[in-house]
Amino acid sequence: MEKVKFTEMQHGDKEDYDLLTKFEDKYIEGTADRVIRILKNLDSSLGGYQVSRLEHSLQAASRALRDNADEEMIVASLLHDIGDEIAPLNHSEISAAVLRPFVSEKTHWIVQQHGLFQAYYYNHHYGHDRNLRDKYKGHPFYNDTIRFCETYDQNSFDPTYNTIKLEEFIPMVHRIFDREPHKHVYLGL
Ligand SMILES: [Fe+2]
Ligand SMILES: [Fe+2]
Repeated sequence: MEKVKFTEMQHGDKEDYDLLTKFEDKYIEGTADRVIRILKNLDSSLGGYQVSRLEHSLQAASRALRDNADEEMIVASLLHDIGDEIAPLNHSEISAAVLRPFVSEKTHWIVQQHGLFQAYYYNHHYGHDRNLRDKYKGHPFYNDTIRFCETYDQNSFDPTYNTIKLEEFIPMVHRIFDREPHKHVYLGL
């Protein structure tokens, strides 16, 4: 297999980095498949609920689809909890970061903040402030995030709901991750 000549990045030349670009382009093409693999793992993650994390995710995406949300929001609903797999303490940030190069600022913000907004439904039971979301009052995506939590997320723990199967969402995931990624995200502009 072709490899770069360097052992320290500072010694790489254009030929090395052109070679790496070839590998990276191929690797990036596989992102949707890897994301779907992580999503499937949610089947055996966090217990205690009446549905698995995967069922919850599918249910949230089913609700988005039936609400005639655009494809980006359906996929965001499907993937909004994938961060749970490796970052249960700040899962929203991770899920949002995975989506960020391929979705609008609004969709990214909704996913990034959904954990904090979702606390409205349970924080008081732990003796904490349920209105943490209030600090974002007036933010352009404040109402959208409330709506996401209310109509797609907090209600998607229902084992009797007619949840759409993962297979139906897979082409949508591919279409979103096949988009031209936002340059400002990966170039740090
Ligand atoms: Fe979540
Ligand atoms: Fe969720």
